[in-house]
Amino acid sequence: MIRVTFELNGRAVEVDVEPRMHLADCLRDVLRLTGTHVGCEHGVCGTCTVIVDGAAVRSCLVLAVQAEGSAVTTVEGLSSEEALTPLQTAFRKHHALQCGFCTPGILTTAHALLCDEPDADADRIRAVLAGNLCRCTGYIPIIEAVLEARAAYRKPGKP
Ligand code: FES
Ligand code: FES
Repeated sequence: MIRVTFELNGRAVEVDVEPRMHLADCLRDVLRLTGTHVGCEHGVCGTCTVIVDGAAVRSCLVLAVQAEGSAVTTVEGLSSEEALTPLQTAFRKHHALQCGFCTPGILTTAHALLCDEPDADADRIRAVLAGNLCRCTGYIPIIEAVLEARAAYRKPGKP
């Protein structure tokens, strides 16, 4: 086992993991944050996406030990318990999820994008989300929701 220390959703965490354990399993099975979903486990579906030091990262392709010293944000860390985030509000308004399996990865990917590029247009959003597969194929409302959420990311104190 190897001890790993990192920041998770704003809190310091310390875990003992096998060297081969990937970050998605560490988040789900060790830290019990099951909002990060696991689909393909080889970097194709995007449902395991989390944000590491500001970048959207497939947590099935990162070893937990590689998170040492990093700041990791999962879908649970995007919102407070009090209110939906602008992205969540827009997803609800546009019916941008069906079964919801892909949704955590899409929310984290879109959040990382809009933090860097709050003016991203539909083509840019489509290009970035092309790596997130939705088995329910609800892609059009997903793009509409992300487009609508952009306004919140242009304000000071963005989400
Ligand atoms: S589970 Fe990580 S990309 Fe599919
Ligand atoms: S909403 Fe079902 S996989 Fe995307």
